[in-house]
Amino acid sequence: PSLKNFNTFGLDERAREVWVLETEEDVVTFAKDEAALNRLQLILGGGSNLLLTGPINGLVAHIALKGREILSQDDKHVLLQVKAGESWHETVRWTVENNFGGLENLSLIPGQVGTAPVQNIGAYGVELKDHFHSLDGVVLGTGERKTFTAEECQFGYRDSIFKHEWKAKFIITAVRFKLTVNDHAIRTSYGAIHAQLDEWNIAQPTIDDVSKAVIAIRQSKLPNPAEIGNSGSFFKNPVVAITEYERVKAEYPDVVAYPAGEGRMKLAAGWLIDQSGWKGYRKGDAGVHIKQALVLVNYGNARGAEVWDLAQTIIKDVHERFGILLEPEVNIL
Ligand code: EPU
Repeated sequence: PSLKNFNTFGLDERAREVWVLETEEDVVTFAKDEAALNRLQLILGGGSNLLLTGPINGLVAHIALKGREILSQDDKHVLLQVKAGESWHETVRWTVENNFGGLENLSLIPGQVGTAPVQNIGAYGVELKDHFHSLDGVVLGTGERKTFTAEECQFGYRDSIFKHEWKAKFIITAVRFKLTVNDHAIRTSYGAIHAQLDEWNIAQPTIDDVSKAVIAIRQSKLPNPAEIGNSGSFFKNPVVAITEYERVKAEYPDVVAYPAGEGRMKLAAGWLIDQSGWKGYRKGDAGVHIKQALVLVNYGNARGAEVWDLAQTIIKDVHERFGILLEPEVNIL
């Protein structure tokens, strides 16, 4: 079958076999099926962080477990459990509509709940890890159920243990979040949120106002995958030693960067790519988004390989210009 509807880049690549896992039992059965595991090429959630560069000559396991449940609640917090196949954005909106605070800054991020912890999704000053409680999943090979606490997930910037030791060895089935039920922390320090709320004349924003501001900002800057194929930020913002940053800054005083822990700075990759003249570039149907240089797009019929070629050309060009090596944020397959 074609994976076109299973990846937000909208790439029309085929897989030999697709298994849709809808229940915990499906996952356990799959995890114990040695023959199936030998054919396994890809564990697929919402396909929102994936670039397919060719056909998949094996098995794709699509995670489709559904359900949201309040596990406990007191006068301060709620503990919420969400199955891996739920839509991330619908889940965020559901929490906001129930007046559960914490995830509102992460509105409109594509993808599913189960893949959100893998790359510790983040936006507008908040990361998934800030409200994460724990997750459950199944170990491939044994079918054993296993829980990871926040600490055990080893979250970092767009990073977790599921990109390293546990890569391709574990299927996440459910994620638990600890959210507030009153006295919500309203986080508007990110300039664009402030500006949006000011424009709406909102001085005392609720979590719903913040969510709506984030939605408006994302809609104004980021392409909607339903209209133009994309995977959000294609590259990570490179984290470099402060000496590296100073070297770049000496030559390019306008370079955009943020402190990133002791002796380190996070450079805005979008700025580096933009300054290199790539914003709005298009070759065939592969391109660089017109409003955000960090986002590569498929205007319709691009092949994954063309998008990947473009990405590599950009990496090389930015490296020659700034001496900074960009790394993809999306998984290249
Ligand atoms: N910039 C440019 N030109 C561009 C794009 C950006 O000069 O074409 C400059 C902007 O002016 C700004 C800076 O770069 O000063 C940062 O840009 P922006 O605020 O748009 O955020 P970002 O660093 O490009 C990151 C995340 C996004 C997240 C936003 C908001 C990464 C890789 N990306 O983007 O996450 O939504 O911050 O918090 O960390 C994603 O991961 O898919 C994603 C969209």
